[in-house]
Amino acid sequence: MIITVYSSKGGVGKTPIAANILFDNTDFYIATNELNSGFVHISNIDDDKKILISPEDEFQEEVFTQGVFVKENASMVIDLSGSLAESFKSIPTALNISDVVLVPINNQVNSILQGVTTIQSIQEYFPKLKIIVVATKLEKQGVNDIFGDDWTKSKSFKEIQAYVQENTNGDLLVLPLKYSKGYENIIREEISIKKLSSVPFGGQAYKTPAKQFDSLYTAIGLNHESK
Ligand SMILES: Nc1ncnc2c1ncn2[C@@H]1O[C@H](COP(=O)(O)OP(=O)(O)OP(=O)(O)O)[C@@H](O)[C@H]1O
Ligand SMILES: [Mg+2]
Repeated sequence: MIITVYSSKGGVGKTPIAANILFDNTDFYIATNELNSGFVHISNIDDDKKILISPEDEFQEEVFTQGVFVKENASMVIDLSGSLAESFKSIPTALNISDVVLVPINNQVNSILQGVTTIQSIQEYFPKLKIIVVATKLEKQGVNDIFGDDWTKSKSFKEIQAYVQENTNGDLLVLPLKYSKGYENIIREEISIKKLSSVPFGGQAYKTPAKQFDSLYTAIGLNHESK
C-alpha cells in the first residue's frame, strides 16, 4: 500500500498526517520530495527505509535504485509537496505509484482554492487514483457552531466539503481532523495520536483526533482496530 499525502501549499498538515500514519505503521517505508523536511530524520525508522528525493527527480527510478520495491508488497507513506503544473517530476511519478492520495485542506481561502486546484489536477492526470480529502485544523466558529463530537457537522468542515464537492468530479470523500495540540507531538516525540490517546492522564484530550484517524484508516483500507 502506498499512501501519498499531497498538497501544493505549506502549513495544511501534510507532514503531521504522514508522520501519524507512519507511527501507527512502523514497518512502512517513508519518502518525501521536500529536501528540508523533518520527515526523513525520524530516528525510530531505519535509514534504509527512508527515501529523500529532490523535486526534479523521478520517484520510481529513485525508489528502484534504493531497492525498495525489490521487496514485494512494501508499504510506504509519501509526504509530497509542490504543484503538478510546475512539472517537477517527483510529483507525477509519486502519484503514479500511489494507491491513494490524501489531500489536506484547512479552512482558509487560500488553502481551499489551492486544494481544489490540486484535486482538479490529480483528477485530470490520474483519473483512476483514489482521492480522500482531509479537512484539517478544524476549529469551532463562534458560539453557534454546535455539534458535539461529530466534526462533519462543524461550519468549517461543511464549508470545505461544499466547495470541494462543487468544484471536483464525483462525490469525493471528505473526512475531518479537528485542530489539536497533539499534532505537534507527533514528530517531536515520534508517537501517533492514537498512542498519545492511550497514555494515562492527559490521553483523554486526544480521543477525538484518535477516532478521526481510525475513520481515515478505514477509508484508506488500513485495518487498525487491534493495534
Ligand atoms: N488537525 C490537524 N491536522 C494537521 N495539523 C494540525 C492539526 N491541528 C493542528 N495542527 C498543526 O498544524 C501545523 C501543520 O503542520 P505543517 O505546517 O508541518 O504542515 P505541512 O503541510 O507539512 O507544511 P509544509 O508544506 O510547510 O511542510 C502543525 O503545527 C500541527 O501541529
Ligand atoms: Mg511538511
